[in-house]
Amino acid sequence: MSDEPPVASRESRAQVRQMLLIGAVASVLGVALALLIDWFPVPASEQAGPIDTLWDVLLIASVPIFVLVETIVLYCAIKFRMRPGEELKDGPPIHGNTKLEIIWTAIPAILLVGLCTYAYVVLTDIEKAEANSMNVRVVGEQFTWTFYYPGEGGEEIASPQLYLPAETPVNFTVQSKDVIHDFWVPAFRMKIDAVPGIDTHVRVTTTDRMGEFPVVCAELCGLGHSTMRQSAHVMTREDFDARLAELARGPAGGGGGDETDGKTLFTDAAEPQTCDSCHTLADAGATGTTGPNLDDSLADLSEEEIRQSIVEPDAEVTAGFAPGLMPRYGETLSEEQVDALVQYLMEVKGG
Ligand code: CUA
Repeated sequence: MSDEPPVASRESRAQVRQMLLIGAVASVLGVALALLIDWFPVPASEQAGPIDTLWDVLLIASVPIFVLVETIVLYCAIKFRMRPGEELKDGPPIHGNTKLEIIWTAIPAILLVGLCTYAYVVLTDIEKAEANSMNVRVVGEQFTWTFYYPGEGGEEIASPQLYLPAETPVNFTVQSKDVIHDFWVPAFRMKIDAVPGIDTHVRVTTTDRMGEFPVVCAELCGLGHSTMRQSAHVMTREDFDARLAELARGPAGGGGGDETDGKTLFTDAAEPQTCDSCHTLADAGATGTTGPNLDDSLADLSEEEIRQSIVEPDAEVTAGFAPGLMPRYGETLSEEQVDALVQYLMEVKGG
């Protein structure tokens, strides 16, 4: 066997040129197409810009490689496939083309080192601590988030929704009461696991873009994982201060406020996990299907059983439903609110 590289015929050189030309044109089209796609939701943090640019650079670097490889595979399968009568023919034995080997080692190595360096610089930039950042404690549990703001006299203000002032650096301390969750606001691009027993941190600087953005749990955490969605409200500093003062006045868990009308509590209390978000109850216009249909199941329950289902739902779980899905409302609703709910459900049951 000779170590000499095989001498390519003029015809095969022309074919390689044609193949590379097709690959180059397809790469340009591929990159253009990839950059035209709107990959991410509207950005609402300072971190979103560098992250979205990094994504575009990764597309520009990786799409041509994918397209070139696919072009060579398809071109060879079409042009150089075995034809009838060629079963016993084989190409020349190829061994050791030093020039090619250097090229195909060097290009990926340079790309990899370059992209890793760039990604490292971006990561350092978006994670850097800002002076005067606001602290928010985020606590995940099956299946809701609660947000805590530092209040007066060391007392924390709890909120069922995330409220943030615009153009402010925020330092989130993320915790979990039970299993691993993942705190993610896609519009902010940043994301961090909530791990029981560990405090994790993530920094976000809001921009002047105000509005409501989804808060999502990005770690499969149980049956209610997909329902673990809340909202991040970015607002002016004045609106934010007013909202915080309002939250400081209301009871923990919020939403229902001092409301003691059972029917209103059924649809409003303990936002975002209100009764009607999971249960069907015709009288309250509720159509949820995550939990038992109360139009059917209430009839069999005594007043005590109804109370227990609200305060300690896992003590007895309706057949066909999983334990752990319903929050223990004894922790978030006041005694008066629970009384009003029980009274309301007894009225609905009776009538
Ligand atoms: Cu919490 Cu998924």
